[in-house]
Amino acid sequence: MELAYQPDGIIYLDNAATVYPKPREVLESMTDLYSRFGVNPGRSGYDLCVFGGDLVQKTREQLTRFLGGTDPNRLTFAYNASDALNILIQGLVEEGDHVVSTTVEHNSVIRPLNHLAGRGIITRDFVPTGSSGTVDPREIEKALRKTTRLVVVNHGSNVIGTIQPVAEIGRLCRERGILLAVDLAQTAGVVPIDMEAMCIDAVAFTGHKSLLGPTGIGGQYVREGVTVRATRYGGTGVRSAHPYHLEEYPYRLEVGTLNVLGICGLHLAQNYLAERGVEAIYRHEMELFAKLQGAVQQIDGVVIHGTTSLENRLPVMSFTIPGRDPSDVGTMLDVDHNIATRTGLQCAPLIHEQMGTSPRGTVRMSIGPGNTAEQIDAAIAAVADIAAHVPAR
Ligand SMILES: Cc1ncc(COP(=O)(O)O)c(C=O)c1O
Repeated sequence: MELAYQPDGIIYLDNAATVYPKPREVLESMTDLYSRFGVNPGRSGYDLCVFGGDLVQKTREQLTRFLGGTDPNRLTFAYNASDALNILIQGLVEEGDHVVSTTVEHNSVIRPLNHLAGRGIITRDFVPTGSSGTVDPREIEKALRKTTRLVVVNHGSNVIGTIQPVAEIGRLCRERGILLAVDLAQTAGVVPIDMEAMCIDAVAFTGHKSLLGPTGIGGQYVREGVTVRATRYGGTGVRSAHPYHLEEYPYRLEVGTLNVLGICGLHLAQNYLAERGVEAIYRHEMELFAKLQGAVQQIDGVVIHGTTSLENRLPVMSFTIPGRDPSDVGTMLDVDHNIATRTGLQCAPLIHEQMGTSPRGTVRMSIGPGNTAEQIDAAIAAVADIAAHVPAR
């Protein structure tokens, strides 16, 4: 089937939603790898199945090293970060527990916590960030109670780009015997993670953003000594006579046939990241971001939300143009300038409430590894053009 739409000339600044385009070498090699090893690994003993299983295991090892974990079997696969956060949050808490989180969270944390609270299983508090969008670890500390079992924190905001001080939060949690789970959806692949050094107990990641893999694959890593109760049960391919889901990792948190195509993609993307370097990608994105934000800040009639500091942040910028609805600005960027952005609340309603940008939200521009300086120049010119033509009220 021919796709009618060819995205020639698009300036894609929606990389926080998903990185686009993915490296060609990852995409092309992915189908090749899958065409050779795409059987159902872990189910049978014939050579092809064993080799397929080796590929899965190798990917667990790569990602475990990448995240600073120690046991590759504790690196388990899920669909994406939302799925992984559900597995972690629902599996880490018990009835009567208190959970502390923050106002900078994505709905993939807010909603699982709200559902558990709504059923009377847990209580939870969302600690506000400071005006810069950073969570002060002392505020987390103040929110802790005797019954607090878990702190869940977003590592990098998909709305305003702030990177949270997770190592400091990790230390204070570890001293008190409280678990820390971190949402790495926006940071894995651009910000180095060392779970051991940062005192993190569990992380959730997604494959399709800066990890540069395809959609439909993500997962979680759970530190040795931390117990996550399985909340989904089914086939594991081994010990089929056992009446209950297996307790050992990786089976404990995985059900049914794995997304082998997605795992092929993650494996190749890990090779790509190792070659190109996470720091080099981050540097490239932040250079473009500094140019974008620096210029947009100078445009009359544009308000940037969150911090404009270039320290401890991701290349994600939220702005509004008073007198224009953010969704109209997004449409003008798209239709008149061929620039793809995300508008509205970006699945993170609490930070918008806090910033006073609810209910209409903001326009978000987010930079990825494929963007160029010329594209940023065009984006700056487009914002200036829209801001210069706000109708008089
Ligand atoms: C901070 C954050 N957490 C979680 C998610 C959910 O990721 P996924 O859609 O891959 O499940 C996103 C996606 O935008 C995100 O930005």
